[in-house]
Amino acid sequence: MTKNDLHDYVASVKDYPEEGVTFRDISPLMGNGAAYREAIDQIKDFAKDLNVDLIAGPESRGFIVGSPLAYTLGVGFVPARKVGKLPRKAVSASYTLEYGGVNELEIHEDAIKPGQRVLIVDDLLATGGTINATRKIIEELGGVVAGVAFIIELEALQGREKIMQAGEVPFLALMEY
Ligand code: PRP
Ligand code: ADE
Ligand code: MG
Repeated sequence: MTKNDLHDYVASVKDYPEEGVTFRDISPLMGNGAAYREAIDQIKDFAKDLNVDLIAGPESRGFIVGSPLAYTLGVGFVPARKVGKLPRKAVSASYTLEYGGVNELEIHEDAIKPGQRVLIVDDLLATGGTINATRKIIEELGGVVAGVAFIIELEALQGREKIMQAGEVPFLALMEY
C-alpha cells in the first residue's frame, strides 16, 4: 500500500450534505484493514519526532484517527467532545463549520497538564474551525500543540492558512483535494 493508493478508499459524494459541497467520505478507508493501518502508520511516522505526550481528536471522526494512533504510540487520548457530553468541569470553544452552522467542543480541564505536548488529529481539514477550536482549548489548559495531522485536506477552503495564523505548527495531510 503506497500513499497514492489511499485515494482509492475515499468516496466523493457531490452535493452532500448540501448543494455545492462535495463530501469526502473515509468510510471505505476505515473499512479496509490495510488502508486504515497505512493511514495510521503514516501519521505515526510524522509523530515520531514531535515528542508527543497526548493525542487529541475532535468528536466524532477525530476519534477514529486518534484512538488507534494513541494506542500504537503508547500515549493517552483526549477527546474533544461536542458540547454537553462531559460529566466533569470542562473548557469549551465554539466554531463554525463548512456546513451545518455553529458548534461547540469541550475538553475536561484535567485532561491536559501544563506543558504537555499534544498532537491534534482529525479525518479531514475543511475551514479549520474544528481544529482551531480544539487548539484554543488545549492552549487554554496550558498544553503545547506539537502538530496537527489529517487524512484529508480540502485545499480550497484554506484551513491550513487559518491554523498557521494561530501560530506555526508541524502539519501533515495524507491526501489533498
Ligand atoms: C467534520 C470533519 C472535521 C470537520 C472539518 O466533522 O470530521 O472534524 O468537519 O471541518 P472544519 O475544518 O470546517 O471545521 P463534523 O463536524 O461534520 O462532525 P463528525 O466528525 O461528528 O462527523
Ligand atoms: N467536513 C467538512 N467538510 C467536509 C467535506 N467536504 N467532506 C467530509 N467532511 C467534511
Ligand atoms: Mg469531525
